[in-house]
Amino acid sequence: MSSAEIAVQTFKTLEKEDLRLLQIIEAAMEKHEFVPKDVVVKFSKLSEEKADFRLSKLHKLRLIRQTKEPYLGYTLNYAGYDCLAINAFVKAGVVEAFGKLLGVGKEADVYDALTPKNERIAIKFHRLGRISFRQTVRKRGYITERASWLLQSRKAAEKEFEALKLVFPKGVAVPKPISQNRHAIAMGAIEGAELAEWREIPNPKKVLGEILRNIRKAYLKAGVVHADLSEYNIILKPDMHVLIIDWPQYVTCEHPNAQQLLKRDVENILNFFKRKRLLEIKTNEALAYVTGKGKMPTF
Ligand SMILES: Nc1ncnc2c1ncn2[C@@H]1O[C@H](COP(=O)(O)OP(=O)(O)O)[C@@H](O)[C@H]1O
Ligand SMILES: [Mg+2]
Repeated sequence: MSSAEIAVQTFKTLEKEDLRLLQIIEAAMEKHEFVPKDVVVKFSKLSEEKADFRLSKLHKLRLIRQTKEPYLGYTLNYAGYDCLAINAFVKAGVVEAFGKLLGVGKEADVYDALTPKNERIAIKFHRLGRISFRQTVRKRGYITERASWLLQSRKAAEKEFEALKLVFPKGVAVPKPISQNRHAIAMGAIEGAELAEWREIPNPKKVLGEILRNIRKAYLKAGVVHADLSEYNIILKPDMHVLIIDWPQYVTCEHPNAQQLLKRDVENILNFFKRKRLLEIKTNEALAYVTGKGKMPTF
């Protein structure tokens, strides 16, 4: 079961105090690799007995991790962090109910959900950095991996949400940005499959043209380069229009590597069409077009 599945299933069984304990652990993780039980008890204002009961419940639900050495302490698991984001979305009226898992990637779990108005949305939980018990040895001695996954995952969500807010209003074909909390973003749900998954692409000229038009719009109108573009981050919808997803790596066009990243994005797409023997166009021509220096290549 993925962390998001654990979170979605257990969230409904959580009570206010459980969520409070998760929040306390989250906050104290900035200072402690494992938050000492005493600290949790102190901030919870619960009796030790009640706090113990809650902590063992959260542990059984796999929302937190426990260590006994060198002291009894706790840290959040991804599923625990997911629950905190879900709680925030529910409280803010963004989410009413969860549906099924839409995609599990290396760097994200994406869930289908419903808003209070019964609109379908997607919730993407970012997963970055490995959760590790061990300390990593670096040249300067021991540095802990304390909470780095938490921070990295949150940063990725913040960046992706920023990108969507920059490009969506300019008419770039992306899921509609709705909300962001911690490592999670809420966005419009889309249907279709990654370009890479399609056995056959019915009208490759039209599809490639649309992809290039969107890269151009993002670059010229929003000043944004995707920087992780490939056939895996382009969704071809049942109506044969495309959507570009997965934006946490974006850079603005002022970024020193922007041109290089833009070129790589375009090459990835052109190579896909070439490899599949669908079409071939020159990188330079496509690049001139997306940067506004040339016309749409004829193909
Ligand atoms: N808004 C969305 N609506 C429906 N499915 C989505 C949505 N966003 C992503 N997905 C699904 O989840 C998969 C992973 O999403 P993606 O953003 O590419 O994350 P990553 O590749 O980092 O794991 C996508 O390939 C797609 O199948
Ligand atoms: Mg992806």
